Amino acid sequence: MRQAADALRAGRPDRPLTVTTGPGAVRLRLDPQRIRQVLDNLLTNAAVHTPPGTKVTLAVSVLAGCARVTVADTGPGIPPADRHRIFDRFYRVDKARSRDRGGSGLGLAVANSLVEAHGGTIELSGEPGATAFTVTLPLRPDAR
Ligand SMILES: Nc1ncnc2c1ncn2[C@@H]1O[C@H](COP(=O)(O)OP(=O)(O)O)[C@@H](O)[C@H]1O
Ligand SMILES: [Mg+2]
Repeated sequence: MRQAADALRAGRPDRPLTVTTGPGAVRLRLDPQRIRQVLDNLLTNAAVHTPPGTKVTLAVSVLAGCARVTVADTGPGIPPADRHRIFDRFYRVDKARSRDRGGSGLGLAVANSLVEAHGGTIELSGEPGATAFTVTLPLRPDAR
């Protein structure tokens, strides 16, 4: 999380990022490169599909034997009608605009596959005027 946060701050200084972590270490069994890719995809979305100045938050907490990592932004949000397709391959809300931003529409599909491979889930919440993705990953059995 720290590395992904540093990368966003370096690459997108116009999207101020707040990181919130709990007091203790969170013990997970995971492939760090793949989970870094998940975080990068979500953080990049929060930077490219929003106007400059949009605030981004990255937070981790522990709940019910799982780590919950949330990437949220105060951008325009994802319209309710598009939400059920947002994890589909090649799906983009605004085709013309998203293409200008270089998106293939694969980022969330890839993130979803990688999280599922870890036995976790990824969910979209948030109202118009905000977007929040929550990644839930099981804690290591010996850390529950
Ligand atoms: N944080 C966000 N704010 C607004 N729209 C978003 C956000 N994240 C994703 N989207 C929408 O979801 C679509 C799919 O995202 P993704 O799979 O990462 O594809 P892309 O390559 O277009 O970024 C994007 O094209 C965009 O329309
Ligand atoms: Mg993307």
